[in-house]
Amino acid sequence: FENELTLLTYQQDGSEDEFHETYEAAVESVRADLGASHALRIDGDSIEAEDRFTVTSPGDFDLEIGEFAAGGEAEVDAAVSAAADAFPDWERRDVDSHTAVFRDAADRMRDRKFELAATLSLENGKNRTEAMADVDEAIDFLRFYSLELECSDGYQFNTGQPTPHQHTTNLLRPYGVFAVIAPFNFPLAILAGMTAGAMITGNTVVAKPASATPLIAHKYADILADAGIPDGVFNLVTGGGSTVGQPLTEHEDVAGVAFTGSREVGLDIERAFREQGKRGPVIAELGGKNPVIVSDEADLDGAVEGVAMGAFSFSGQKCSATSRVYVYENVYDEFTDRLVEATERLGIGRGERLDTVVNPVIDDSALERYRNITEQARTDGTIRTGGSVVDDDDLPEGRYVEPTVVTDIPHGHGLAREEHFLPFVTIHPVSDLQEGIAKSNDSDYGLCAGLFSEDDAEIDRWFHEIESGMCYVNRSQSATTGALVQAQPFGGWKFSGTTGKFAGGYWYLQQFLREQSRTRVE
Ligand code: NAD
Ligand code: ALA
Repeated sequence: FENELTLLTYQQDGSEDEFHETYEAAVESVRADLGASHALRIDGDSIEAEDRFTVTSPGDFDLEIGEFAAGGEAEVDAAVSAAADAFPDWERRDVDSHTAVFRDAADRMRDRKFELAATLSLENGKNRTEAMADVDEAIDFLRFYSLELECSDGYQFNTGQPTPHQHTTNLLRPYGVFAVIAPFNFPLAILAGMTAGAMITGNTVVAKPASATPLIAHKYADILADAGIPDGVFNLVTGGGSTVGQPLTEHEDVAGVAFTGSREVGLDIERAFREQGKRGPVIAELGGKNPVIVSDEADLDGAVEGVAMGAFSFSGQKCSATSRVYVYENVYDEFTDRLVEATERLGIGRGERLDTVVNPVIDDSALERYRNITEQARTDGTIRTGGSVVDDDDLPEGRYVEPTVVTDIPHGHGLAREEHFLPFVTIHPVSDLQEGIAKSNDSDYGLCAGLFSEDDAEIDRWFHEIESGMCYVNRSQSATTGALVQAQPFGGWKFSGTTGKFAGGYWYLQQFLREQSRTRVE
């Protein structure tokens, strides 16, 4: 499987300038089309709702992304009913007919990748590199899941003859209607990955994107429609978590849920689903509080660069973001000083501007959280750099905050225990690997973890003892972030996920299926 790596391809061709020019032209063109009105997408039709909501760019409040229909219970009902009606026919289609739609959609995404990346930068604020990686990941999910299904013959095996006159087939079958709820931070890749996983295996879907990122979801719906998805197989209901997400996941005709988002919401959804007496899957990818250990055997240049990017790219708004760092005492001062310098060099600004790393935070509640945690850090620890909302006349009016490095926070303190989803990292001295691993593991989360060390014995021990789904050693470009589909299946242990099967991995699709053994006597 070959990953789509757009920026790397341009860099290898020596045509990086062309990448930037094409992206910048796409930003202008997408910007010119912003501000339109968008209905819901139910059963292949555009359906209006009584209420509407407006989305503005987090990096520039003067930029209106669009006006969107705000669904409610009636619209959720209509969408679930369309998905239920479409299920019998879609389920019975063969593997090639299922994968053809997603292979075609992947090609269409590739043809529109600059437009999609520009849309992401404007709508959720991520910079061009991050935005293109989001689009590449979406394409990879669609292609990898197609390949997976083809290679496993649609999970149908002739298991032979248990006795001379019996013939048995063992197969995996879809459940029915899936509710798919996506977060704002990878609003194309994660929406595409979860919905494709459900639909390619024969289920039908009602999807709800995050309220901050409905435009990219509409573009994905357009692509699926152009690729020939039958009416009712994919339905899109935009709106709020409590007004659309909750009635959708609790709808009696929903057979399974695929959710990516915060632990709190994910566990509530799972609890409510089980309380209804349902036995279907709740595939929930949740948060992280991702630790990194820096050994005195580390290449400090790599460690500093890796932690700065891991903690602050896209303003730490990644489940995989580095958020606590345990540094051996004898290199603690040097590492911390150098991390502070590296952090102060990072560009803060709108995603579509070249060389910005610390992009706007998504909404007012994120801004409020930033004010709260920096105030707490000032009281209970030491802010080594950052700690303020940016006040810069050169920036448009948006939600800009400084990347923040904090020391002197005691182990177990909320700042070093809870996920903040902001550009905020705490640094802690440890005496050795044992203490670093013990403190790393002392967490409810187990999503991503990193180690910087050149010592093979340390690396072996760490791989064995660290409690984490994603384990990265010496990643000087991004410590804990940036997994590639198939090459690095992505998921978490403990409260970072509910099923233990990873997105973009070999066992992902099977979660959307249930097993059946069929025996016929002849
Ligand atoms: P969130 O939990 O606030 O929202 C996620 C989605 O759930 C949104 O579409 C939201 O509208 C919806 N929602 C909110 N309340 C709901 C309810 N009661 N019922 C049903 N749906 C509801 O998360 P977010 O702020 O969009 O994203 C950030 C979170 O996502 C972080 O915790 C991050 O770690 C996590 N995340 C995890 C992964 C992963 O792969 N593990 C990837 C990306 C993000
Ligand atoms: N897949 C995303 C990353 O690895 C979350 O950063």
